[in-house]
Amino acid sequence: MLHVNLVMIEFKNVSKKFGGTNSVLDNISFLIEKGSFVYLVGPTGSGKTTIFRLIIRDLFPTEGSITLDQWDLFTLPKSKIPHLRRKVGVVFQDLKLLLDRTVIENVMLPLQFSGVKDEEARRRAEEIIIDVGLAEKLNKFPLQLSGGEKQRVAMARALVFNPEIILADEPTGNLDIQTSFQILDLLKSINKRGATVFMATHNEKLIDSGGDRIIIVERGRIVEDKKARQKSARADHETGKKAKDEKEELKKDKIKLESLVEEKGKNVS
Ligand SMILES: Nc1ncnc2c1ncn2[C@@H]1O[C@H](COP(=O)(O)OP(=O)(O)OP(=O)(O)O)[C@@H](O)[C@H]1O
Ligand SMILES: [Mg+2]
Repeated sequence: MLHVNLVMIEFKNVSKKFGGTNSVLDNISFLIEKGSFVYLVGPTGSGKTTIFRLIIRDLFPTEGSITLDQWDLFTLPKSKIPHLRRKVGVVFQDLKLLLDRTVIENVMLPLQFSGVKDEEARRRAEEIIIDVGLAEKLNKFPLQLSGGEKQRVAMARALVFNPEIILADEPTGNLDIQTSFQILDLLKSINKRGATVFMATHNEKLIDSGGDRIIIVERGRIVEDKKARQKSARADHETGKKAKDEKEELKKDKIKLESLVEEKGKNVS
């Protein structure tokens, strides 16, 4: 049994029904340790976003209990909610970027809402935007950015309070494999700095090696809770690339050899 202060999130027999009958989560229990990187995998409609909404108390469970770093989310007083939202940084599935605000303005917003002065908010937002690799885009609007860049803005905004937990809901949703791995690397580096990362995805191919945990949900139930396989899609991707490079080299060598033979043949004749 883990000592209680090593546990960041605990779901105990949680069920969620919408409208009294529509059962979306059915008696799920899991525990996430502080500082870990956990993937939440499942097909569309399986309940991933609902799990995240429960963690930020955007929803209440119909049954069961949820504990977040020793806070019982059911009894947590309303006055503590802003504290909870600073503790948990969320990268929403639909990003929730304001289109009429620039990158830096989007990232400053949560700080301003919580009463941080503009100058300080700007300084902190800028620092984080640079950290996620968007220094050149500070004054661009979301519609002037690529999908991967928008995802980074949402990530920067989730990081402004230096949260202990990051919930990333399909952060690689519409991105190509290369960009997806970059986003994953960013989350990994945040995790290395100490944050607990819980990332939802329905793309199991993305899942990195290194023994991270995967919780698989299907139709609102946990069907598997395991360590990630060691050989990841990234390894396959990179091995594939290496093999391709080697093949190209061989092809070049073959062409060289053929022209040499041809040259030689000419000299003989
Ligand atoms: N507010 C709501 N009222 C009624 N049903 C809902 C509500 N929110 C979600 N659902 C239903 O709950 C189920 C799970 O939804 P959820 O958004 O958690 O799935 P998901 O795993 O995040 O899917 P995706 O991979 O498409 O994002 C779906 O069938 C959805 O229609
Ligand atoms: Mg979802």
